[in-house]
Amino acid sequence: MIRFLIVSLCCVLMSGCDTGADSPRGFSLPEGNAEKGQVAFTKHQCTDCHSVKGVELVEQSETSELNIMLGGQTPNVKTYADIVTSIINPSHRIHPRHRADGTDENGDSKMRVYNDVLTVTELIDLVAFLQPQYDFMPYYYTRYRVYQ
Ligand code: HEC
Repeated sequence: MIRFLIVSLCCVLMSGCDTGADSPRGFSLPEGNAEKGQVAFTKHQCTDCHSVKGVELVEQSETSELNIMLGGQTPNVKTYADIVTSIINPSHRIHPRHRADGTDENGDSKMRVYNDVLTVTELIDLVAFLQPQYDFMPYYYTRYRVYQ
């Protein structure tokens, strides 16, 4: 009985989130150009703080303070909406792995704010470039604590 109530409550809560005005449902980008995205990645000096798994980019400069690799498997980025969020709202959700070196003293992301710099087309192209670099892994829940 208790289990039934918990499951019902979760369903109500989840459906509430899914259809509410704040829900990401219905979010969709037009198709971007991955090659232009790679150009934009270098042009906007994303390379100051990032490398991209399996992609050869310009060498990081000596002034680079961070080297956070994008792509591969990460629990933080699962959909292209996550990539968009990471770019236009970097402090929204920071993976524990990046909390120590990737945030300032207020806990905000050290990532530059690009919202007045990137065009929408560049953003779409960046997503088209980055998305295939991620292995979107299915997220398995386990009732055991996962040690890393
Ligand atoms: C000054 C350093 C810096 C620059 C420049 C920078 N970033 Fe970041 N970026 C970060 C940090 C730190 C994080 C990790 C913390 C977070 O999620 O905000 C991050 C996280 C990300 C993530 C999510 C990473 C993941 O796999 O979980 C993406 C995607 C990303 N950046 C894209 C970009 C793009 C595209 C640009 C260029 C337009 C850029 N970044 C420029 C510092 C930077």
